Amino acid sequence: MIDSIAGRNLITLQHVSQQAIVEILDTADAFVEVNARAIKKVPTLKGRVVASLFFEESTRTRLSFETAAKRLSADVLSLAVASSSVKKGESLRDTIATIDALGIDAVVMRHSASGAPEQVSRFVPHVRVINAGDGQHQHPTQGLLDVFTIRQVLAERHGTTGRESGSELFVGLKVLIVGDLRHSRVARSDVMAYTTLGATVRVCAPGTLLPVDVSQWPVEVVENFDEALGWADVVGVLRLQKERGTGSLVPSLGEFTRTHGLTWERARRLSPSTLITHPGPMNRGVEIDSRVADLDVALMERQVANGVPIRMSVLYLSLAGRAPERSADE
Ligand code: CP
Repeated sequence: MIDSIAGRNLITLQHVSQQAIVEILDTADAFVEVNARAIKKVPTLKGRVVASLFFEESTRTRLSFETAAKRLSADVLSLAVASSSVKKGESLRDTIATIDALGIDAVVMRHSASGAPEQVSRFVPHVRVINAGDGQHQHPTQGLLDVFTIRQVLAERHGTTGRESGSELFVGLKVLIVGDLRHSRVARSDVMAYTTLGATVRVCAPGTLLPVDVSQWPVEVVENFDEALGWADVVGVLRLQKERGTGSLVPSLGEFTRTHGLTWERARRLSPSTLITHPGPMNRGVEIDSRVADLDVALMERQVANGVPIRMSVLYLSLAGRAPERSADE
């Protein structure tokens, strides 16, 4: 188990201990305060260089990582993959070696191939590698921002702060994750984050969208989505990943919505306190009804906003190597 990501890569949440996750969440809490200031910048990573390499599309993750790096005063090298020499056939190894030659301290990387960030970490062992989503493997900072958002909301309801509550609010918390589990790196990271913090996780999907190894996940697989909804304190809706061939694994999008979509009728039967998350981008009208996505208990905008402090925390810990003792700008 890794008890702190200080000075380390972040490629997966597997083997990241509860102590390490709480350290990331607590550090992010300090950065929420920085993001609320008129001047949203601290000199923490001044002089450090962060390369942003997105070989696959992204809106939220890319913008929030680059914003996070800039708010920590790091210089950001952002590779526009579509107009780079990758399109002329340059290998991943040569691309990384080229960027490394410019003098970088960290690489934030998204790739369609599971394992690509791990491979890069072997090519440039002196550079910190942060996984921004690889294939169907992991999306660790999404898992972290999801548990951070839930801790923040539950802490507000309990009249406390996330930092004061540590992992306490996850003990006995019931989380239901529904949808395209088979292709979802978010689900894999969410399950690790929630269960490491002490929550109980159930998953629900059409049989064709369950991962083949789901029996080895620390979750209970449930068949009846409607019954499971009554059990959940948190419903994590996943995106139907049409670009990874999900369309051919369900009879039709309409059928999927009927059996596993968070429709308006289903949302109306939820307890008013049940929280709803979705990593985005959403297919409104497919896995989630547009009106449900706009409810107060639907936390999508807060998830996006929290992407910045969580990614500041991960960059800070990974590069600076220790948690701030009192405040984020010391
Ligand atoms: N949740 C998420 O990873 O979104 P993007 O693909 O827009 O980064």
